Amino acid sequence: MMFPPKEVIGIDIGNYAVKVVCFAEEKKVIKLKDWGYIPLAIKADTPPEEKKAIISQEIKTYLKKKGIQARYAAASISGNAVIVRYVKLPKLSKKELALTINVEAEPFIPFDIKDVNLTYYILNETSDSGEPKMDTVLVAAKREAVQDKIDIITGAGLDPLIIDVDSFALETLYEKLAPKGETASSVLLLNIGQKVTNLSIVSQGVTRVVRDIFIAGSTFDKTVSKMLKGDAAAADAVKKNKSVLVSDEDKAAAIEAFDRDGIAVSKAASGVLKDLCTEVSRSIDFYLSQGVEHSISRIIVSGGIANLGNITKFLAAEFKVPAEVMNPLAFLTEPPKNMPKDVLPALAVAAGLALRKLKDWEE
Ligand SMILES: Nc1ncnc2c1ncn2[C@@H]1O[C@H](COP(=O)(O)OP(=O)(O)OP(=O)(O)O)[C@@H](O)[C@H]1O
Ligand SMILES: [Mg+2]
Repeated sequence: MMFPPKEVIGIDIGNYAVKVVCFAEEKKVIKLKDWGYIPLAIKADTPPEEKKAIISQEIKTYLKKKGIQARYAAASISGNAVIVRYVKLPKLSKKELALTINVEAEPFIPFDIKDVNLTYYILNETSDSGEPKMDTVLVAAKREAVQDKIDIITGAGLDPLIIDVDSFALETLYEKLAPKGETASSVLLLNIGQKVTNLSIVSQGVTRVVRDIFIAGSTFDKTVSKMLKGDAAAADAVKKNKSVLVSDEDKAAAIEAFDRDGIAVSKAASGVLKDLCTEVSRSIDFYLSQGVEHSISRIIVSGGIANLGNITKFLAAEFKVPAEVMNPLAFLTEPPKNMPKDVLPALAVAAGLALRKLKDWEE
């Protein structure tokens, strides 16, 4: 491509909603050009091809309605479609590594190496018991999952310029959001969506742990619907109006008010969040076991579930560090108008994808 594309739309195709973000840079100032939140209510038994066609059509309709003429898009994959591993490989030349990467990577990748697109990035050179080694990030993405995203984007009339990983998009965004002094500490990022929670631990500007956990919104809905004997759609609606009750006062007030839904949502949410915290603790332990200097100093939550009332209070109490809801657009000089409050944290991955392009083309 001779000229960098002027506009790239970040499109986060989630299980619950498609999120769209497009930035434009004018005189070195980044402005929000467009944003979109397209809820998807696709029946669970819809065949995959049909599902893709519905999502493409939804995106197409949205672009048309907004008069967006961008041609290029950045999308991403997550969950069991992708594996990210930080590993030490023997020190090899670029050429040697290109020839042997499949063999070197195979022990770390739980998929058949033939079914994945393998990419790698050398972080730095180190040594291990006197042997020269390279700290390497391995990314194995299932070809089929990558192709699905390409099909959806192409079906929407756009050019898929890049297929990234949710966690890397979050990292790109966090680099932009992080206060300058924070590079010295370690931050836990949790992006809690419908099917997946993307976990990253970023320390001194470098991602140390990346992991997807299959505890998220749909786990809440299942538990809530069991308690209230309703369906998942009803549970989804009721959880948006209720909170997880953390303090004894809040709990007592809910009982006093005979708030049956409130108590059910809170019970379900605490159970699910406890399970999630157990998994998060494992990742923190793994991170600390690498002999690092910094423990986690802050938790930043994004994704639709970041809207669950009191979630930051709950996490702060569990991990004994401050927790906050991410504002993915906090770096803009002009904040967006008319954006519903609960859309904002869900835009994190889309914003990271949109930024990634601005960043890449600067290089
Ligand atoms: N105001 C709200 N209060 C509580 N939960 C909310 C609110 N708004 C959205 N959610 C929940 O957030 C979840 C969807 O989040 P998100 O949009 O980040 O998921 P997704 O990216 O589509 O899913 P995934 O990444 O797992 O494919 C749903 O479970 C939804 O019920
Ligand atoms: Mg998501």
